[in-house]
Amino acid sequence: MLDAYMHSLAEKASLSIGYPFATDFNYEELHSLLRYPLFNLGDPFMESNYGVNSFTMEREVIDFFADLFHAPKDNYSGYITSGGSESNLYGLYMARELHPNGIVYYSSDSHYSIPKSIRLLNMKSIEVGSTQNGEIDYDDLFLAVEQNRHLPAIIVANIGTTMTEAKDDLSKIRSILQKLVVESHYIHCDAALAGAYLPLLEGGSKFDFSNGADSIACSGHKFIGSPIPCGVVVVKKDNKERLSHYISYIESVDSTITGTRNGLSSVFLWYAIRHFGKEGLLQRAEECLSLAKYTYHRLLENNIDSYYNENAITVLFEKPSELLCQKWQLATKSGFSHLICMPGISKDQIDRFIEDVLNERENNKATF
Ligand SMILES: Cc1ncc(COP(=O)(O)O)c(C=O)c1O
Repeated sequence: MLDAYMHSLAEKASLSIGYPFATDFNYEELHSLLRYPLFNLGDPFMESNYGVNSFTMEREVIDFFADLFHAPKDNYSGYITSGGSESNLYGLYMARELHPNGIVYYSSDSHYSIPKSIRLLNMKSIEVGSTQNGEIDYDDLFLAVEQNRHLPAIIVANIGTTMTEAKDDLSKIRSILQKLVVESHYIHCDAALAGAYLPLLEGGSKFDFSNGADSIACSGHKFIGSPIPCGVVVVKKDNKERLSHYISYIESVDSTITGTRNGLSSVFLWYAIRHFGKEGLLQRAEECLSLAKYTYHRLLENNIDSYYNENAITVLFEKPSELLCQKWQLATKSGFSHLICMPGISKDQIDRFIEDVLNERENNKATF
């Protein structure tokens, strides 16, 4: 059964172009770690009494992302989460603890983990419209905040929406808050995919702490790549301290959402960051961007309606048949599917996919 499963998995992996998961990683050197119950309990910035942990690596990963996101040097914290969704939940949890009567504003293109977190946290919220490219509709946001300007505003900015990788503009959001003289506000950036590469590109870091973010969420298994889903969340340290509680059982501070956390993913992320460094990650990003451009042009020259946002590695195109969506594992919304040019995806895979679409068209013509 295991052999058959491995075989089918390899085949499925070779046809996976629709989800944002890098596949070019090699963690063989870390295989012996699987012998240990490697778990992180409590806050990574404080040793607990359980020693089989990877706090040193976890801290280094947080330091790396805090630097990438221009977090205040002496006032940042965070931890390695189970994925982008938990990172979003944590950002919103923090916002709620700071502003219990605040209203969350998020766009209709926000990831489903945002409304889910809002429900879990029992927060008040308003869904704001978005424009055709997937960016939040700033006029709509203005009107929604205006009606509630006496209450704290908690804004979720999408730094790369799930479907089109559209980025909300923090300077426009801040200017709305300023114009409406909203005294208390909190901005959480959901940068699940783009957070790990956008800041490396010239002019890409417009969403960071120096631009008004109070917390930033990113997935670890997306651009960096990991065989275990994981995420990063970076917050301000003084905000985190407001929701931390000392737990004598672990001799540490409980400042995370889950209890026992997986310690392997911190080592994977640490290993990848050490291996690639900022330069290697930038090079990977440039390769992905260039593959996205190639894909977009190849689709257009074959008369397949296509679109992609600036500095995005996600390419949209008219939805192919159900059969092809299943074969190539494509997500679809409002008649458009997307493929994501992640590290590990080759030109050959793109060409084979386009060939499939063209063959199908030919066959359909022949049938009519
Ligand atoms: C914009 C955005 N936010 C959050 C998430 C959730 O990330 P995860 O699947 O790591 O929980 C995703 C996942 O695709 C996403 O696209």
